Amino acid sequence: MTRLIVVSNRVTPPADESAGSQGGLAVALGEALREYRGIWFGWSGERVAEFTGHLNMQRSAGVTTATVDLEEQDVDEYYNGYANKTLWPLFHYRIDLTEYDRTFDAGYARVNQRFADTLLPIIEPDDIIWVHDYHLFPLARELRQRGIKNRIGFFLHIPWPPRRLLTTLPRHEELVAGLFDYDLVGFQTREWLESFCDYAEREMDATLGDGTVTAMGRTVSIGAFPIGIDAESFHKASQSRNALDARQRMIDSIAGRQMIVGVDRLDYSKGLEERFLGYERFLADNPDRCQEVFLLQIAPPTRAEIGSYQEIRTKLDALSGRINGAYAETDWVPVRYVNRGYPRDVLAGIYRTARIGLVTPLRDGMNLVAKEYVAAQDAADPGVLILSRFAGAALQMPDALLVNPFSQEEIAEAIHQGLDMPRAERLRRWEPLMHGVMTDDVVKWRGDFVSALEAVDVRA
Ligand code: G6P
Repeated sequence: MTRLIVVSNRVTPPADESAGSQGGLAVALGEALREYRGIWFGWSGERVAEFTGHLNMQRSAGVTTATVDLEEQDVDEYYNGYANKTLWPLFHYRIDLTEYDRTFDAGYARVNQRFADTLLPIIEPDDIIWVHDYHLFPLARELRQRGIKNRIGFFLHIPWPPRRLLTTLPRHEELVAGLFDYDLVGFQTREWLESFCDYAEREMDATLGDGTVTAMGRTVSIGAFPIGIDAESFHKASQSRNALDARQRMIDSIAGRQMIVGVDRLDYSKGLEERFLGYERFLADNPDRCQEVFLLQIAPPTRAEIGSYQEIRTKLDALSGRINGAYAETDWVPVRYVNRGYPRDVLAGIYRTARIGLVTPLRDGMNLVAKEYVAAQDAADPGVLILSRFAGAALQMPDALLVNPFSQEEIAEAIHQGLDMPRAERLRRWEPLMHGVMTDDVVKWRGDFVSALEAVDVRA
């Protein structure tokens, strides 16, 4: 049987999977590897004085993880630098936050080389290699230069930006050219795929084929593979002991009010500031209804060494404080703002208690919270999903209340509509959403991507 080697910046051993604050990628890959005879390779998350290339192999819950420690300078220039100060904001349409610094480029290239050097000895001829996300665009090139002929696929979890934004990146040509050393490049949605094709045609003189792009004499297969959640297990988790306890705790503290819930890493792409302002608009426009509701926003801090993340945190502290100061009563606060993560089963219980799931990123590759909210609902009395038009998930979830997250009015009106929505309409909207979440789950995503990678014509 062919082995699968998954490579991503962050590796979360499956045993830790219920531990709080991880992003969608970590959850999805843990699920995908559980049944696969695979190795998951990446950064340990640890920093050492000097890079040694020592590979720490561990086995837990049927998955072998192989991790390396990085130097302080690597973390600064590659993870905090090029990946998260340059590529992340740029690919989320935030050139105002994008930092261009040559030392970041060098660190990014160095870590990709180090990953290739360390991975090389464990690759066997029949392995297929699946590389994830924007931290590792050049990895296939590095592996090819070291003689690796295996099938290598790449999946981008975040949006692909419009051509005119991407061309603001110094040496963007080199970054994108690296993708042509993969056999298959996958995107979350057709929208990001089309954006990539537009770049390839206009900037690289590429020729588009049926599911392929050819440039610089290399043909790469491309496709849209929308990621899902492990819907079955998440749905079960919503009825687990921990979920029921969490639900009861919430119900006890709600005092008959309706809960609106948001759960996001504390990231500027998630639209938290705009969400708070939209909710404030609802409070201002509906003084008679205010006290029927409250917003629970769970936002575990992330990438805390980066200035733009410190700034958004400070802003949200101030904004939540201001809203509560202006509207709270002695026995009610409009915003419960919580800066920590919770295990998945506890989250599932919280989602199930919330009348509204408020998921309003300004830009998002997919967004799995939207899918988890749907999967956790009570089939007899489901809540309402309010979802940003600019999340990849919106393309698959037209029955949600779709909003423009930049519009306070739209958010306020959707909250109003969600609170008043009769059960029949909630059911009518939720049923197809749930069907989609259960059908297009993480198992299908993995299967579709790996089959497509296996089906690619072998490299010349
Ligand atoms: C997003 C990215 C992932 C990343 C996750 C958590 O989902 O697409 O690649 O792992 O955020 O971010 P972090 O920087 O903590 O790994």
